[in-house]
Amino acid sequence: MTFRNIIIAAALFGGVLGGFAQAQAQAQAQAQAQAQAPNGPAEVIATRQAGMKHTGAAAGAVKKALDAGGDLMAVAASAQEVADWGRKIPSMFPPGSDAGAKTRALPAIWSDKAGFDKLAGNMAAAADTLAAALKANDAAAAKAAFAATGAACAACHRTYRAPA
Ligand code: HEC
Repeated sequence: MTFRNIIIAAALFGGVLGGFAQAQAQAQAQAQAQAQAPNGPAEVIATRQAGMKHTGAAAGAVKKALDAGGDLMAVAASAQEVADWGRKIPSMFPPGSDAGAKTRALPAIWSDKAGFDKLAGNMAAAADTLAAALKANDAAAAKAAFAATGAACAACHRTYRAPA
């Protein structure tokens, strides 16, 4: 090999190595992004449906305590979970998550995202009031706030969720 060929070979080999390192870095970044944000549409849809189901169960636990005259302070955390979920709802409906799995999310969510987010905020506020009333062991206030929370769920479902 002439000196010139060695230089060329080294440059080529370096290029290949460089390309390999780059591809490896890319693959690593991709794997990392997938691990951090497992957010394909099907996964987003499944996650938000599970969140809604969980919030339904949490609201049910509060209702049970209210109906039975049970320990209200014990279910304040459930109301807080409902409120926290209300604050999360806007981010659980990213563009593109209208398909990819069976979903009852209506197109109006994306054509009127501001209206949708506002109703999520209303629900969070009502559930915050509910949590405060439960913590204060105030049954009358908690019953009123529970009704308001339920109405806030229904208001959104009416406009933005397809019938089952
Ligand atoms: C801002 C809008 C909004 C609010 C507020 C809201 N929901 Fe929903 N909910 C939806 C949408 C949209 C779906 C359909 C999601 C899908 O199928 O991708 C849904 C689905 C559900 C489901 C079905 C989940 C499943 O298994 O598929 C339940 C249960 C539910 N919501 C309960 C509640 C309860 C309880 C509240 C109030 C405490 C509430 N939701 C508040 C929009 C809302």
